[in-house]
Amino acid sequence: MLEIRDLNAWYGPSHVVHGVSFAVRQGEVLALIGRNGAGKTTTIKSVMGLLDKVGGSVRFAGQELLPLPAHARFRMGLAYVPEDRRIVPDLTVRENLRLGLLQADSSIKESSATDQIAETFPRLKERLGQIAVTMSGGEQQMLAIARAMIARPKMILLDEPSEGIMPVLVEEMGRLFRALRDQGTTLLLVEQNVEWALNIADRAVIIDQGEVVFQADAATLAGDREIQERYCAV
Ligand SMILES: Nc1ncnc2c1ncn2[C@@H]1O[C@H](COP(=O)(O)OP(=O)(O)OP(=O)(O)O)[C@@H](O)[C@H]1O
Ligand SMILES: [Mg+2]
Repeated sequence: MLEIRDLNAWYGPSHVVHGVSFAVRQGEVLALIGRNGAGKTTTIKSVMGLLDKVGGSVRFAGQELLPLPAHARFRMGLAYVPEDRRIVPDLTVRENLRLGLLQADSSIKESSATDQIAETFPRLKERLGQIAVTMSGGEQQMLAIARAMIARPKMILLDEPSEGIMPVLVEEMGRLFRALRDQGTTLLLVEQNVEWALNIADRAVIIDQGEVVFQADAATLAGDREIQERYCAV
């Protein structure tokens, strides 16, 4: 579904991703893990078209993405939940959800999409008219995920969705990601909460200093403390 080959990325003169290659298969959850500064965010921003200087190849559903602007990638069925959530603080929950439909340039009817998402996220259902910034951090993260899901993308890239979220919501999020996968959505899950991510994921890729150093089934990595200790913040 997503095939990254020999990806390189720079910030100005600083070369931070060095020939990263891995693939995410249709309908799987792939966990991308690694320490702070390993290059996880840079890799997914490269896929989404949010960086200036990127080389190599990123193919999605058979099409080369790198020449395309970010908005075209959203329209192809990719969605993204950034590290800093980037919900619009002064808009209501309902208005933030509408932005998810606009970004994907989706023909899905807003009222039915909002109803459907409200069923999936009971916490948001009660708060559709609430100004986003007045919600808790965990609720805002759920809104960011709901906004990414609302246009029914083929694949969602999530950057550390569990960070700073209370355990009960993290568990809820885990169930949601499994359900999404079971409905056929492909997920690329960047995480530092390794145990949790490996519990959800089918496969895992570890990057370190901008390079892929390990990839395996999630269950294999979950049983390998030595690799986890070497490359992950465990
Ligand atoms: N805007 C930027 N300008 C210059 N260097 C940057 C910029 N953003 C990130 N970097 C550098 O690129 C490298 C990779 O950063 P990246 O944010 O991709 O790491 P990460 O794996 O997502 O880390 P974290 O777990 O802390 O989010 C780091 O060395 C970082 O300092
Ligand atoms: Mg990051």
